[in-house]
Amino acid sequence: MVPLFFLLSGENSTLPAAEVRAILEAEGYLATNIQTLDQVLRLEADIESVKTVQIRSAYTRVAAQELLIADANYEAILNTTTQTDFTPILKNGESFAVRINRIKNYADSELNTMTLEIKLGKQILSQTPGVTVNLKNPDKTIMGIITNDKLILGLKLTDITSKTFSERRPRKKPFFHPSAMPSKMARCMVNLAQAKNESILLDPFCGTGTSLIEATFIGCRAIGVDAQRRMILGTKKNLAHFGITAEGLIWGDSRKIPLDRVDAVVTDPPYGRSSSTLKATTMQLVKDVMTEIHTLLSTGQRICIALPIKLKQTGEIEHLSQEIAGYAENLGFKKLEAHTVYIHRSLTREIVVYKKI
Ligand SMILES: C[S@@+](CC[C@H](N)C(=O)[O-])C[C@H]1O[C@@H](n2cnc3c(N)ncnc32)[C@H](O)[C@@H]1O
Repeated sequence: MVPLFFLLSGENSTLPAAEVRAILEAEGYLATNIQTLDQVLRLEADIESVKTVQIRSAYTRVAAQELLIADANYEAILNTTTQTDFTPILKNGESFAVRINRIKNYADSELNTMTLEIKLGKQILSQTPGVTVNLKNPDKTIMGIITNDKLILGLKLTDITSKTFSERRPRKKPFFHPSAMPSKMARCMVNLAQAKNESILLDPFCGTGTSLIEATFIGCRAIGVDAQRRMILGTKKNLAHFGITAEGLIWGDSRKIPLDRVDAVVTDPPYGRSSSTLKATTMQLVKDVMTEIHTLLSTGQRICIALPIKLKQTGEIEHLSQEIAGYAENLGFKKLEAHTVYIHRSLTREIVVYKKI
């Protein structure tokens, strides 16, 4: 177990940290001493776990091995640095560079990032024999993040690029529909459902196939159901575009799914705005599908579902997860977590994770 920290995307306040935690749990890595700061998750875990976060995560930018944490002022930082042994990570003959990132405007009156990089570089150089500074092409990068009035400093282990997600944006796919989810969000939902390699992942409202694609990329066997034939044909086209074959694609009603078991469910039911509920109300459809899914999952398995929080014309807020709370509980689902995601003025989504108990 080593102290690690992850620099998280600022795209959502709670999803990125929850995603990393879910990935570690899904892959069987124990994480301890977990602390969530603004856009940073600190924890202790096996260093190997970083590889799986790198492969799976949608909302993580960088992983690092933590070396020190200090209050965000020069004196505290340099004091702590003096007490830190850099020799296990900066070996004789190696070069390094210090790079500091500031989240929002934390400690901007106390610290200038460039000054801090220079001060830290000099300090580390003076206490670590045989190393040099190389700003252009260093062997090692010592990265610091200023957040919540702390500086967290560590050895950068890997950048986690999100380039491939932008190649899978809904509009980049051959079959587009306005109801399609962003690929990053779908990947995050697959992670929150704790699906893993060889898991059978079901999306009972698969639409354009976003979740099926993201699940397949992490090794799941994906099954999609949609009541509209054109959506199933579109999903087929999108999967083929990425060289993916689904475990199954079913043109049918998700209130009656012709399967015996699945390992995880990720879904985004229709809200009747850009995607049709085919005459049912969203609430009834969600209740019926949750009933069906309950029979397919085993105890401990999860469903990650995007539910709408709608602002009605009357000014009332309709919170679907609250409205189905009793129903889900009676079925035997425990609500584990919920994350609010703003979509547009009158629609906010809530990403909810339930576990079958
Ligand atoms: C919000 S869209 C899903 C979008 C999808 N997440 C994506 O990224 O493309 C909801 C889908 O549910 C489908 N649908 C509506 N009622 C259904 C039902 N009873 N059974 C199965 N699919 C249904 C619609 O045809 C629509 O494609």
